Amino acid sequence: MAPTTLITGGAGFIGSHLATRLTGGGEAVRVVDDLSTGRQENLAHLPQDQVELIVADAAEYLARPNALQGIHRVYHLAAAVGVQLIVDQPAAMIRNNVEKTAAVLEACADAGLPVLIASSSEVYGKCPVLPLREDMDLVFGPTSASRWSYGMTKAIDEHLAIDLARQRGLRSVVIRLFNTIGPRQIGRYGMVVPRFVSAAAAGQPLTVYGDGSQTRAFCDVRDVVGAMTRLMDEPDAYGRVFNVGSDQQTTIDQLADRVIALTASRSDGRRTPTKRYVSYEAAYGEGFEDPPHRLPDLTRLRETIGFSPAYSLEQTLTELIDDLLLPNAIGSTGGLGEEE
Ligand SMILES: NC(=O)c1ccc[n+]([C@@H]2O[C@H](COP(=O)([O-])OP(=O)(O)OC[C@H]3O[C@@H](n4cnc5c(N)ncnc54)[C@H](O)[C@@H]3O)[C@@H](O)[C@H]2O)c1
Repeated sequence: MAPTTLITGGAGFIGSHLATRLTGGGEAVRVVDDLSTGRQENLAHLPQDQVELIVADAAEYLARPNALQGIHRVYHLAAAVGVQLIVDQPAAMIRNNVEKTAAVLEACADAGLPVLIASSSEVYGKCPVLPLREDMDLVFGPTSASRWSYGMTKAIDEHLAIDLARQRGLRSVVIRLFNTIGPRQIGRYGMVVPRFVSAAAAGQPLTVYGDGSQTRAFCDVRDVVGAMTRLMDEPDAYGRVFNVGSDQQTTIDQLADRVIALTASRSDGRRTPTKRYVSYEAAYGEGFEDPPHRLPDLTRLRETIGFSPAYSLEQTLTELIDDLLLPNAIGSTGGLGEEE
């Protein structure tokens, strides 16, 4: 039997694109996902003889006898994701992100398998120095603000992966994902691009939090999964941490304007949505803090795998809007899923 790649969280947004890439290269993929935020439909477009979906908690699955038999590498993407979920259920999120990752890493160390884990730009917290470099100090707010707990869980995951690489020779790669966008991302958990695109396509106002002057850099998920597979295959990457994303910044206000302009142009001016501004407090509660800027330093990633994104923000936004406005557009990928 051909070697199989295991993806935890593979029925989610990024995991399903990774599965597309791996199966496109002829590989067999086993997805373990509890479908808490992922969806079975995210895998429906894949060649079904190359994909196996096991609906289970990642740690429970790995406790089964022979769970990793026939597996040659593991991508661990399963996590509780999204600002809203973090604010609403911090304790459940913390346990999911730390305990499950510890179980996955231990199982890979026992089986001698390489593993890539998805960390997040949230580990930088409110680090004020830009661009953000992998060896910088991490700056979190107080524990009374649950918002920082997600970044802290991902930082603990990183410590576990690095420690197991040192102590037991685990071939672990850690990626700190910055804002990743593309088809199948859903807005329900607070992600800005799917929120904006879904609202614009439905002719509703785009809700900008704060005054919109905050900046982010968005990277297409297809570029992100390309970087993931190359890092997994690069022995120089083992035991190390990498920023993965784009370094092209935009303000959230400019992003809203681009989505509005593209929607109007793709619908011959029949839809010209508007913007509305809502305070962070109104959206997420009193005392909510959001770092005003977040920009990765990509030097390490470029030096290790020669990373250079193929998709521009304009291209990705156009494709997402076409998917919703013109369901039969060439390259249609099935839309963005649910609205908030
Ligand atoms: N999307 C981004 O911009 C972004 C940014 C930083 C980090 N990340 C990280 O990338 C990874 C994938 O995120 P995504 O955006 O695809 O989110 P997603 O919610 O679409 O995917 C996460 C998947 O994990 C599954 N899952 C959660 N807990 C599980 C468990 N205990 N066992 C099995 N499956 C479980 C969910 O059902 C879902 O399918 C996550 O680890 C996330 O923290 C994403």
